[in-house]
Order: sequence, then C-alpha cells, then structure tokens
Amino acid sequence: MAGLVVAVDGPSGSGKSSASRGVARELGLRYLDTGAQYRAMTWWMLEHGVEVGDQEAVAARAAEPVLESGTDPQGPTIHVDGADVATAIRGDAVTGSVSLVAAVPEVRRRLVALQREIIGEGGIVVEGRDIGSVVAPDATLKVYLTASAEARANRRTAELTGTTVEAQQAAMARRDTLDSTRKTDPLSMAAGAVELDTTALNLEEVIATVVRLVKERA
Ligand code: DC
Repeated sequence: MAGLVVAVDGPSGSGKSSASRGVARELGLRYLDTGAQYRAMTWWMLEHGVEVGDQEAVAARAAEPVLESGTDPQGPTIHVDGADVATAIRGDAVTGSVSLVAAVPEVRRRLVALQREIIGEGGIVVEGRDIGSVVAPDATLKVYLTASAEARANRRTAELTGTTVEAQQAAMARRDTLDSTRKTDPLSMAAGAVELDTTALNLEEVIATVVRLVKERA
C-alpha cells in the first residue's frame, strides 16, 4: 500500500469526503482534502480584504498565505498562517466565494504544486475536483463519485442547520456550474476513472466498493 495514490473526484455532496476518509482509515493511508485548501485560500483572501471577484487581485496575493494540511484520516487539520481554520472554512462567506477563488490560475498552480508535494511518495487518498485529471494523473486508482442532485442536496442539508433542501440544491447547482465551466482545470471525469453513482448506496457500501477496487489494482 506504501506507494499507492487513490484519486477521488466528483461534485459537492457526492460523498467524497466521508468516503475518502473511510477508505484511508481502512487501508492505513493518509488523507488529503484539497477542497479544504481552496477554502483556506478563500478564507485568507476574505480576511485580508481582497476583492474575490477580481481575478487579478486574487492572483497578486495567491503566493502569500502559508497553508498546512494535516493528513491523518482520523482527524485531518487545516491551518493558514498558523491559525486553525477548520470551522471558519465551512461558513457561508467562504462557501459562497470559493468557486471564484478556485477559478484563478495562479491559485490553482500554487495549490496543485503543494498537493503534489504532500502526495510525495504516495500512500494517500486525495479528494477534490481535478485530482485524477491534473494533480495525480498516474494515480493507482481514480474514482469519480456522482449522486443525483436531490441525494446530494439531502446529504448536505443533513450536515447543516438553518437551511432547506431546496436552498442547498440551488446553491450546489450554482457552484457545480462555476466549477465545471471554469477555464483552468474544470471538474471533469478523468481518463481511466471508475464512475461510482452513490445515490442508492450508504457510506459503508461506498467505502467497501472503493476498497475492493484499490485492492484489485494494488
Ligand atoms: O469539496 P469542497 O466543496 O470543499 O470544495 C470547495 C471548492 O473548491 C469547490 O467549489 C471547488 C473547489 N475545488 C477545486 O476547484 N479543486 C479541487 N481539487 C478541490 C476543490
């Protein structure tokens, strides 16, 4: 399992995070949430008063924040300039702006380089939108998770308070459109990826399926 890289991509609410962490735990691998890094970058821009709708303004400061990702699947961590931002990056302000920041090529260049550094010799499950297509095209296994729009909105609503399924479905559709139509590294299914529709599966079934696929390849 040592040199193994498992790439897990898909839209929000497809169950990527829970499944990726579960697979990493079961196989004794590290776990990297690249979405958390794009969120942390966004949090820093908002904290520093950068106009996130202005691509040039974001690009000009993309090299500044110091990001640190802890890769233990039992308790992944994310720090920016030494501050623990695990909770702050899940708030509405960051969620509403992250697709804009993630569309900036300078941001992606920097984070892709950081992600490749963390992947290093492997032994890791990496989740995101462009892992199989851009970050780790030679991954041992590439999985593309999908689920119906309704199932995705239901899952996300269950994780949050003070929101409705309808509001979540609308917000997710907006983010998916931005993430899949941006010019640089859009969300797409990588060549050679295995598509797994999780609509009718529970978490344990998704984890078991991915673990079986990894063992077949390893
Ligand atoms: O997985 P998430 O919802 O935490 O991701 C947050 C945002 O970051 C999402 O809108 C798309 C972007 N993202 C990306 O562009 N590339 C990645 N590898 C991971 C996330």
